[in-house]
Amino acid sequence: MLDAKLSQAKKLFNITSQNEQLPNSKTKLLTITSGKGGVGKSTFTANIAHILSKKNLKVLVLDADIGLANMQVLFDIRPQYTLFDYINGQKNLKEIIVDTRYKNISLIAGKSGYQYSSNSNSFIFSRLVLDILALNIYDILIVDTGAGLNDYVKEFLRVSTNILAITSTDPSALTDVYSLIKMLSIEKNGLMLCFNHTKSDNIGIAISNSLINLGKKNRLKDDFMIKYIGSVPSSEKISSIARTRKIFVNEFPFDEVAVKLNNVVDNLLKSI
Ligand SMILES: Nc1ncnc2c1ncn2[C@@H]1O[C@H](COP(=O)(O)OP(=O)(O)OP(=O)(O)O)[C@@H](O)[C@H]1O
Ligand SMILES: [Mg+2]
Repeated sequence: MLDAKLSQAKKLFNITSQNEQLPNSKTKLLTITSGKGGVGKSTFTANIAHILSKKNLKVLVLDADIGLANMQVLFDIRPQYTLFDYINGQKNLKEIIVDTRYKNISLIAGKSGYQYSSNSNSFIFSRLVLDILALNIYDILIVDTGAGLNDYVKEFLRVSTNILAITSTDPSALTDVYSLIKMLSIEKNGLMLCFNHTKSDNIGIAISNSLINLGKKNRLKDDFMIKYIGSVPSSEKISSIARTRKIFVNEFPFDEVAVKLNNVVDNLLKSI
């Protein structure tokens, strides 16, 4: 039994490490993560999804936060099923994908408070991601992970080809993002870095360079790329509009912060 499980795990690991994107899938996988919680992952996920959808790209958002699944709140929908109906074998993949009110954006909702056990759940989530890629329907799958670097988040990171880390410039957030960099540098080729609550690109670039230098000093893998893709300032409009279950860039497309988010997406598209 254990042998069978191990060989299944090995097989999946081979798929994910050698050829992380399914060969025939047009769907690009983007995983949003941070280390520290509350830095803006879900906000970025929803707004990036919206900007991509306006470029006529078909986007599927997967709410992979089991601490506090809030994508359905941001998109203002009450989904009948969540990804756990699929994990539990009660619904098939297409049944858990719901349309949002925004053209070109679909959602797989998460479920708060789900108990993840790395023994019993291992590889189910990576398999879910691979199954979505195999559908070959979407241009981009955005996975919004929860806070922290627990086994559950690591499982999504392991299967991900494009990882976007969101951080603020708080020392604690930067410490967490460096831990993330250290961990990813073992298996991955790089990550994209975006600063939230940060006024200027100069600050973002300077901190990215410091992280790169720290990595060199600590002899992280030489070819691990840390790519700065933008900074987004704090805006009262972002938090207030989220409370009314609306997407900021849809409501204020010409706001200077929306322009910054658009720049992030332009840089992102050059990198994935
Ligand atoms: N640039 C910003 N300006 C003002 N408020 C923001 C900004 N970005 C995010 N927020 C607000 O900060 C709070 C946390 O954001 P969000 O939920 O996106 O973080 P998170 O990283 O997904 O959190 P968690 O780790 O709990 O999943 C929310 O109330 C959101 O509206
Ligand atoms: Mg979140």
